[in-house]
Amino acid sequence: DWTMAAFKDQAIDAIRRQVGDGKVICGLSGGVDSSVVAVLIHEAIGDQLTCVYVDTGLMRAGESEQVVSLFRDKYNIPLIHRDASDLFLGELEGVDDPEVKRKTIGRIFIDVFDEEASKVGGAEFLAQGTLYPDVIESVSFSGGPSVTIKSHHNVGGLPERMNMKLVEPLRELFKDEVRDLGRELGMAAELVDRHPFPGPGLAIRIPGTITRERLEILRKADTIYLDEIRKAGLYNEIWQAFAVLLPVRTVGVMGDNRTYDYVCALRAVTSTDGMTADYYPFSHDFLGRVSTRIINEVKGINRVVYDTTSKPPGTIEWE
Ligand code: XMP
Repeated sequence: DWTMAAFKDQAIDAIRRQVGDGKVICGLSGGVDSSVVAVLIHEAIGDQLTCVYVDTGLMRAGESEQVVSLFRDKYNIPLIHRDASDLFLGELEGVDDPEVKRKTIGRIFIDVFDEEASKVGGAEFLAQGTLYPDVIESVSFSGGPSVTIKSHHNVGGLPERMNMKLVEPLRELFKDEVRDLGRELGMAAELVDRHPFPGPGLAIRIPGTITRERLEILRKADTIYLDEIRKAGLYNEIWQAFAVLLPVRTVGVMGDNRTYDYVCALRAVTSTDGMTADYYPFSHDFLGRVSTRIINEVKGINRVVYDTTSKPPGTIEWE
């Protein structure tokens, strides 16, 4: 794609001009946007870039390990990996309000990120994977009434606090263009085509309070669901798919025994920008297969339901 190749060259030039021989810090989330930013900036300025990955303890199964090995071992990008899961899970104990969860996670994230970034002496620049829709969304209501439905901690806050200059090479791009740029940079399809994942992670996929036990149950169900989606060849048709663990127990029967376990809700939507979305029309066969596997393989869940709400009026996440 010649257009994206040209964009890449221009973006690399612009990064070099902006940064000179300064140091840049880039927060990695494991998602497409921050990964593309990191690889692009690394191509522009090499080891003047250091990435910081804060493990919140709220990631999907195996994701933190994947991020660390990919960037450190495959890309050879200097990476600081901070496991802050005890801190996050400790502060989240007993918190059940979705916005309090977000604010708590956002606050700790900024503290930890700042602490780790300051270990890289003299970094003047902070790289962020801000996309065009984030830019529009954050200005479109300025001056008007506040209509924020969910506070996203991954935009804003950090640069002011850290007094750094922003490097935002994706500001003019939509999500599908970021994916094209990633391909242009030679990044693997599994990474470039990844579904979006929210900063607060699994915390907003467990309505009510978060415990390690609930996180473990959710991770197992979510892994099975995504595994079946990939096997059915549906991953790339879907914008986002995930399991939600409801803090509700229902009665079931397993062999000769009565069970009393959690309900798992499955969500999958199609969308182009996350602003509107339709629920994905899985076949009954597929849904039945996933339900059976989850109930048989995940201790703690005895009922699975499928969410058929589109956005609006629903949101994509449950919190
Ligand atoms: P909703 O649930 O508002 O989500 O329809 C739209 C898109 O945003 C993601 N999302 C978040 N991303 N921090 C994030 O980084 C958040 O607090 C957050 N809440 C929702 C959601 O996964 C979807 O892609």
